[in-house]
Amino acid sequence: MNDKSKVPVHVSIIMDGNGRWARQRGQERVYGHSHGVESVRACVEAAVETGVRYLSLFAFSEENWGRPDSEVSTLMGLMFKAIANEMAALKKQGVRFRVLGNVDRLDKELLTSIRDAEAMTAPAPGVEPVLDLIIFLSYSGKWDILQAAKKLAKKYASDPEGLENASLDDLSGLLVTAGVPDPDLIIRTSGEQRISNYLLWQAAYSELLFVDTLWPDFRKEEFRSALEEYSKRNRRYGKVK
Ligand code: FPP
Repeated sequence: MNDKSKVPVHVSIIMDGNGRWARQRGQERVYGHSHGVESVRACVEAAVETGVRYLSLFAFSEENWGRPDSEVSTLMGLMFKAIANEMAALKKQGVRFRVLGNVDRLDKELLTSIRDAEAMTAPAPGVEPVLDLIIFLSYSGKWDILQAAKKLAKKYASDPEGLENASLDDLSGLLVTAGVPDPDLIIRTSGEQRISNYLLWQAAYSELLFVDTLWPDFRKEEFRSALEEYSKRNRRYGKVK
């Protein structure tokens, strides 16, 4: 893409279709998840190459805790392994790794490795990361809005007038994504056309792109095509242009 102004600052992806990809090959669902990790790596590289500043990935929803225990533990295991295997390379590329969500529900050992990885890839003061890679884990949009609303209520517990005057920015600043620009582009793979309780507040003006490709097949070329499609969109934010 030649026009840098048309490159989205924040691309977010609902990675869907791992199970179907595996079934099409006569394999268990977990086979799809492990190939999905390869797509994560490819998209991180493509984001760095194209100049995307934030890449966020919906890896595990609050609702996903309801999947069979074996699948949940496989997904958590993949996350654990990816942290162990990929962090040094991410750090070398200048990528800052972060996990956002209801992390209190995660296994303590996994949470410790996440916190270590976040510390390891945190940029030195004054240095801007090449890319922020944000993994949404145990996340749901409604949960995020609720926890922010609770914090807001607590903050103004003894100041009803302050609460009355609270702004949209005040609430945004209490979401787990505080400080992260809202996604410009949200991609969902696998042909499903839903937002599935993802970034409900933050997606207010995101461009949505639904592609048929199943997540394990979504690689650099598909990422670049999505950016190409985004560059043709006319964003009006409810105004006239
Ligand atoms: C959706 O496919 C995918 C997920 C619930 C998990 C995504 C996780 C990974 C790609 C691996 C771990 C991630 C990182 C960041 C290392 P699905 O199972 O819902 O597929 P289906 O709709 O075909 O059943």
